Amino acid sequence: MNVKKITLTVMVLILTLAMVFAGGSKETASTMNMSDIKLQPSNNPSGKLEIFSWWAGDEGPALEALIKVFERKYPSVDLINATVTGGSGVNAKAVLKTRMLGGEPPEAFQAHAGMELIGTWVVADKMMDLTPIFEKEDLLNKFPETLIPLLSKDGGIWAMPVCVHKSNVMWYIPENLKKWGVDVPRNFDEFIMVCDKLKSKGIIPLSMGTTWTANENWENVALGVLGPDDYNKLWNGELRFDNPKVVNVWETFAKVISYTNTDAASLSWQQATDMVINGKAAFNWMGDWAAGYMMTTKKLKAGTGFGWTNTPGTRGVFQFLSDSFGVPKGCKNPEAAAAWVATCGSKEGQDAFNPLKGSIPARIDADMSLYSEYSKSAAKDFSKDIIVGSLAHGCVASEGFANDFSKVMETFLNNKDATNASLMCQELADKYIR
Ligand code: GAL
Repeated sequence: MNVKKITLTVMVLILTLAMVFAGGSKETASTMNMSDIKLQPSNNPSGKLEIFSWWAGDEGPALEALIKVFERKYPSVDLINATVTGGSGVNAKAVLKTRMLGGEPPEAFQAHAGMELIGTWVVADKMMDLTPIFEKEDLLNKFPETLIPLLSKDGGIWAMPVCVHKSNVMWYIPENLKKWGVDVPRNFDEFIMVCDKLKSKGIIPLSMGTTWTANENWENVALGVLGPDDYNKLWNGELRFDNPKVVNVWETFAKVISYTNTDAASLSWQQATDMVINGKAAFNWMGDWAAGYMMTTKKLKAGTGFGWTNTPGTRGVFQFLSDSFGVPKGCKNPEAAAAWVATCGSKEGQDAFNPLKGSIPARIDADMSLYSEYSKSAAKDFSKDIIVGSLAHGCVASEGFANDFSKVMETFLNNKDATNASLMCQELADKYIR
């Protein structure tokens, strides 16, 4: 070995040691290959813990209840509840991206189980493996069999699930439907009949909000028109988006949104729900955080104050998503982050969070007596229905696909050109799915 080589070897050694001992600094996170960093459990955390989500305002009470559980258990931690408002994380995800790429990650952030987590942050090698927390807290057999695989890749588990939401729900106020003399529609034909009747009475049949709510309504239509098998085939590349069946989805979607309010683009999902509560509109299609909003914020009782059924054509199918918290590499306080994700996965944490959120617990051993009639019925559906993933909420497609899909949607909302939308989606599938 010549002198040059020795000098180089020593320099590499010094550099490596410096990186190892820098312990969790920004430089360490970005320079080392840390693909096997596992988050270790901690019993006595302290210091600052920043958790990041889009559960602000009306979406906040469930998270606050979960935070209370955490604070009782870990009083030495100073928890910072960082939220960026905007349904489905439209704004939060952009802020998170900037922070992650800028080396300023929070200790833990909200992400959807499935491709949003795996196909975005995990493939980019930005997350810590939470397996040791699952093991220490005895969580490996506490979630439905289908859920852990959506959080797993390459032998690691990359986030802790807090809840299970259903996206294919149609909400209404029973008293209003009675007053208007219409029944709850079960399929597209009945839905269209009922909508025409409502329209003729001057009632807006279906309320809708901003673009992401249109995306969610599109996935509901896609499921109703295609059925679960073909719907699933969209996401593994077996069904092309330019197939006439998918053109038919867009055409049906155009028909459905012809019954919506003209100011949809400017409304939040809560404002669209309010239209139903206030009797301006008959129906709203939205994930069951709407049940949380109606129960927790609007104090309506599930069953009498508001009613629900599956969106047309989706009986027996549960369009699923799960909110989870992951811990990014390079976070400043992994000890406190470990305690946070353990709390998210705990029975106590889930039973504090989910009854207020409108979701069902991700755990299979929760105390369902604490839950509303709506959640009990959703839990029953989840146990027997066919489960498919949501597009709008990060389960079946990566964030790249989902973001570009919003652009297709915006074009479609302007021109209602089903063939063009199908072709644009096929381009996205070529880019992101195959
Ligand atoms: C979803 C999220 C729900 C709820 C909803 C509306 O993406 O999973 O928990 O927050 O957005 O913002």
